[in-house]
Amino acid sequence: MAQDDKFKKLVSHCKEYGFIFQSSEVYDGLAAVYDYGPYGSELKNNIKQYWWKSMVQMHENIVGIDAAIFMHPKTWKASGHVDAFNDPMIDNKQSNKRYRADVLIENYMDKIEAKINKEITKAKKRFGDAFDEKEFRSTNGRVLENVAKHKAIADRLAKAMTDENMAELKTMIEEFGIACEVSGSKEWTDVRQFNLMFNTQLGNIAGEEGKLYLRPETAQGIFVNFLNVQKTSRQKLPFGIAQIGKAFRNEIVARQFIFRMREFEQMEMQFFVQPNTEMKWYEYWKEKRMAWHEAIGSPAEKLRWHDHDNLAHYANAAVDIQFEFPFGFKELEGIHSRTDFDLTQHQELSGRKIQYFDPETKENYVPFVVETSIGVDRMFLAIMSNALQEETVPDADGKDATRIVLKLHPSIAPVKCAVLPLVKNKPELVEKARKVFDRLKIDFNCQYDEKDAIGRRYRRQDAIGTPFCVTIDFDSLEDDSVTIRERDTLQQKRVKIEEVAGIVSQGISMSELFA
Ligand code: GAP
Repeated sequence: MAQDDKFKKLVSHCKEYGFIFQSSEVYDGLAAVYDYGPYGSELKNNIKQYWWKSMVQMHENIVGIDAAIFMHPKTWKASGHVDAFNDPMIDNKQSNKRYRADVLIENYMDKIEAKINKEITKAKKRFGDAFDEKEFRSTNGRVLENVAKHKAIADRLAKAMTDENMAELKTMIEEFGIACEVSGSKEWTDVRQFNLMFNTQLGNIAGEEGKLYLRPETAQGIFVNFLNVQKTSRQKLPFGIAQIGKAFRNEIVARQFIFRMREFEQMEMQFFVQPNTEMKWYEYWKEKRMAWHEAIGSPAEKLRWHDHDNLAHYANAAVDIQFEFPFGFKELEGIHSRTDFDLTQHQELSGRKIQYFDPETKENYVPFVVETSIGVDRMFLAIMSNALQEETVPDADGKDATRIVLKLHPSIAPVKCAVLPLVKNKPELVEKARKVFDRLKIDFNCQYDEKDAIGRRYRRQDAIGTPFCVTIDFDSLEDDSVTIRERDTLQQKRVKIEEVAGIVSQGISMSELFA
């Protein structure tokens, strides 16, 4: 299936099955803002629980907080967001459509990468098992030429972004003949910087003084609380502070569904370390975070590292974990070595000492920070796009049938177990099924469903990723046994009712993820 079709199917599946809706849809929606429906909010909560468990509860030296969205406006001056949290924007003169200048250039680079991949796919087909990709990449003329072209553009873009050279970005767009996707026109305005922070006004203070920002990252709530948390939790360096919460960015281009939103949620952890040890911890967290993604079922070949070409104003090293979304490899998570930038800035602007007293060296100093930062919504999209599959399976008569199945890791599935009476018009079956449901719902998020033929009910559960279906039939009335069907293998087993909770509990456990 073409990648474009796959993405469209994913978006419509999310809507049809109550995972994600456009915000304020009755008013034709609000661009780049989305609401999570009944299954979506369950899945989102489970993703957050997986992160919190593995980052906070599995580490004695990491504690969690929940800071407010509103912060003192000086926070954002200190962090550099007021002056430097900008994206370069450009408008097309014919369509009046607004773009991010760097994204236009990146999309152009994606096309060059697609050409390289096409050559490789063609050669793979031609040479079969004898194909050596490394050898081909280092000898094929067209591949070499495109790789060199790609690198030259990447270097030029990185330099222009670091130097904030808006004129150079425009020159590149014109030089590469980049056209507006709506009008096809190559007539562009100049490139301008655009600050991404939303602002609002504090009720009782007029003017600049009452200007508040909606936080564009959760990290600052951690930095300003560093000493409060360190002292009250009696932590010694190295230790981390984690939190999950909403962040807001007035993105210029917000497309690709929940990939780039204006209101989104982040899961961030700031790990405070002794100066000059930050690179060791940077490597440590790189490895840990990649393992976290693989444990939940993201295939290794869909994950890759991407070193930042131009570093943010606060970082001395930064890398992204990219995931292969249906629209290509894109950033899923960032791991940044933020130096002592933020704490030092808050120290200077607040006039308060924000330092750690090291009981071993008997010195006071500003710790360095390594951060891991991932968007909940982006993780949701990565998980959904990997899990949604179309399969051919035998139907009741043994013929080939297509099923849509959401192969989520069972521990994060929105519904863990569906309880289904074989038919709904036999009160004794319904009563028995209800009893089983009432028992299981205490331990798991379960669903009771008696509508439609059993095959259709199985398909409905497959489409929302339910790992277990329990069917109560006429034999159940005689021998207290039921059929338990497993989503991925489609295996059906006859078990005693009292065994069901144990089987489900074992099947959906998160424990193996932390082994
Ligand atoms: N505190 C560091 C920080 O905020 P970032 O790379 O700007 O770094 C971290 O953002 C993560 O937040 C990204 O890797 C992505 O998963 C998520 N994210 C950022 N902007 C987003 C947006 N507009 N919509 C959805 N997720 C976003």
